[in-house]
Amino acid sequence: MRTQVGIVGAGPAGLLLSHLLAQRGISSVVLEKHSRSHVESRVRAGVLEQGTVDTLVAAGAGERLLREGLVHHGIELRYGGAGHRIAFEKLVPGRAITVYGQQEVVKDLIALDPSRVRFEVSGVAVHSLEDSPSITFDGGRVDCDFIAGCDGFHGVTRPSVPEGVLTTFERDYPFSWLGILARVPPSAEELIYAATPRGFALHSMRSPTISRFYLQVSSTDSMQAWPADRIWSELRARLETVPGFSLETGEIIESGITPMRSFVTEPMQYGKLFLAGDAAHIVPPTGAKGLNLAVADVRVLTAALDRFYGEGSSDALDAYSDGCLQRVWRAQHFSWWMTTLLHTFDTDDPYAQRLQTSYLDYVTSSEAAATTLAENYVGLPYGWGVQ
Ligand code: APR
Ligand code: PHB
Repeated sequence: MRTQVGIVGAGPAGLLLSHLLAQRGISSVVLEKHSRSHVESRVRAGVLEQGTVDTLVAAGAGERLLREGLVHHGIELRYGGAGHRIAFEKLVPGRAITVYGQQEVVKDLIALDPSRVRFEVSGVAVHSLEDSPSITFDGGRVDCDFIAGCDGFHGVTRPSVPEGVLTTFERDYPFSWLGILARVPPSAEELIYAATPRGFALHSMRSPTISRFYLQVSSTDSMQAWPADRIWSELRARLETVPGFSLETGEIIESGITPMRSFVTEPMQYGKLFLAGDAAHIVPPTGAKGLNLAVADVRVLTAALDRFYGEGSSDALDAYSDGCLQRVWRAQHFSWWMTTLLHTFDTDDPYAQRLQTSYLDYVTSSEAAATTLAENYVGLPYGWGVQ
């Protein structure tokens, strides 16, 4: 098989890239190791920046998103027995976020043109990255001009880069997030980020009848330690901390534990291989940036490939990594900062606890500090940064 761009991984990054390229007359094939139903049902985060929504709409995948996505103009920070609203409409006028599950984005992107994706492909390996790249897999081979490594943090493309080329930057956190999807109406209209001495909790949602919650748990915990009763009682203990708020509880449809990690690889390119999304960088979900960063990478890569095929210039491809990394590092800092602000760390460090409370008080009382949170949360505009 021959194609212009061979794409490994049918997550949001690989699927969106394939569509944006097709719109520009550039051919691609997406190779995915899991089944279609597996990737469509994998529950992940669900906060889309406006730029992400605009990009999905431009890709032709916005119809259901615009109909079912929940547009939010603020979030609540809850701590010390009170709730404080970060009001986007006041702090960053005209900018909002859309709550819409990542797996719904994946479903919409696949439905646009399932023929370009090959599911359940095993044994994927990439070769000759310096000059004439190819991808082999059990039972096949794709020759291509370029390879897009969109295969997530545990993929095969990044480890195929020769040793010594990539530098990695990492931070592990001493806790994980336990996430549940529940068949209960949201207990509030907006997301609630709750910092408590028992740990962090997040109230989110997917629809008027489905809620999404997260709990900070120990990084050694497994789901066996968390039967439904314990999950609900812990969520109540961490969220029912302000007068008049009570949590709706009900059937848990899905649950899982995700470790919290920050990770960046530099550069995001080697020869004809371009890494995008989680293959190149991971953020803890507290800032809701993972999917949005993947979409931003893919936009830059699409423009660079379009320039290459349209004008024969490699300049934009050469600038791909630097062009992405400024936004990547901004999101790294924001995600680390939100995580640090809201989670319970070392309970034996009263100095750190005072600093945390002081910063929460600052963010919820100073317009300047709240604006910093709001503009990062809704997403900086594309092209933002030091030029
Ligand atoms: N061969 C083929 N496919 C692979 C391989 C492999 N060896 N390894 C991984 N994959 C596939 C995975 O099964 C997955 O479907 O690559 C895909 C990667 O998708 P994601 O992990 O979703 O990564 P990405 O598309 O970069 O999306 C960005 O945003 O909210 C965050 O982490 C969240 O997934 C999210 C990400
Ligand atoms: C979610 O709804 O899944 C969600 C929301 C906000 C986050 C992370 C996840 O910061």
